[in-house]
Amino acid sequence: MEVKDIKQVACVGSGVIGYSWALYMALKKLDVIVYDINDEALNLAKDRIGISLKQLIKNNVCNEEEYLEIMNRITYTKDIQTAVKDAKFIIESAPESYEIKKNLVKEIENYTSEDTIIASSTSGLLITEIAKDAKNPERFIGAHPYNPPHLIPLVEITKGEKTSQDVVSLAKYFYVSIGKEPVVLQKEALGFICNRLQMALYREVCDLVMRGVCSIEDADKAVTFGPGLRWGIMGPSLVFELGGGQGHIDGLIKHLSPSINLWLNDMADFKSFPDEFATVARDGVEEALKNRPKEIGNDDESLAEYRDKMLIELLKLHNKL
Ligand SMILES: NC(=O)c1ccc[n+]([C@@H]2O[C@H](COP(=O)([O-])OP(=O)(O)OC[C@H]3O[C@@H](n4cnc5c(N)ncnc54)[C@H](O)[C@@H]3O)[C@@H](O)[C@H]2O)c1
Repeated sequence: MEVKDIKQVACVGSGVIGYSWALYMALKKLDVIVYDINDEALNLAKDRIGISLKQLIKNNVCNEEEYLEIMNRITYTKDIQTAVKDAKFIIESAPESYEIKKNLVKEIENYTSEDTIIASSTSGLLITEIAKDAKNPERFIGAHPYNPPHLIPLVEITKGEKTSQDVVSLAKYFYVSIGKEPVVLQKEALGFICNRLQMALYREVCDLVMRGVCSIEDADKAVTFGPGLRWGIMGPSLVFELGGGQGHIDGLIKHLSPSINLWLNDMADFKSFPDEFATVARDGVEEALKNRPKEIGNDDESLAEYRDKMLIELLKLHNKL
């Protein structure tokens, strides 16, 4: 199979991640079949697709005339056979459970051709285990998106023990062909790349707040108006390359190491969040939301709208939209 053979994609599981994948694939002019287990879930997915598409139109990513064309590219079904039989690429976004995902593997494999690629959106389950009882485990990959997948370009591709390198390469080129930025993990790692990076930072947020150094609101402000602005443009290593001036990144590390080592010795290294932190974080977020004007989001709905509007502007600057 080649990338050009992928004309129809099946989205199995149509919740927060599945609906957004379906919208993205339809925006990229692929035919999409959305599968879920009941009408309620399918109706919700259709509503969410419509709302997110209108948001894209409002932000000039696509225009009003394309609305129906994109919506009509997506069909919905409760029948797994109808969903997967003609799809050459299947995106599984069912709940994060080995039991559910392994059962789905059996159902999907009953109705697909052997070369169809099956990509799981799992946030951290092992592909080796998900594909353990599969007839063709070589065509299973993990393809971890970032929420919302119709906007965030990153896809972390993971392999199981039996995944074929050809499948990984084909999947990678497929994602590139539709404007995604795939990275392939060379080894299975819990949390993949980005969740590990996020949690390394968030462990430090937790520690600073619990020690009384700063509030949740100020930690967020420090990231948003400090390093977060630079990270929206380039990764931390390139940021440090510039920070090193003529000495480059290695010069910066050598120059600052005596000081950095003092901070590292003082920084958090706990292996689980303190029990009380969930409540502290909740209270801190509520306080932060109270202090924000509506136009930059001060409840979950307006915050998500503001996030998407800003993401779209940034993605336009990156030539990703
Ligand atoms: N939410 C996130 O931020 C996020 C980010 C990246 C990856 N993921 C991963 O994506 C996957 C889906 O997560 P979500 O947040 O969309 O969950 P969700 O609960 O919003 O959606 C899950 C959907 O699966 C459906 N479902 C239930 N049983 C099913 C079955 N047997 N077959 C098919 N569909 C079934 C549900 O009806 C629901 O619509 C998980 O593996 C999760 O780890 C989530």
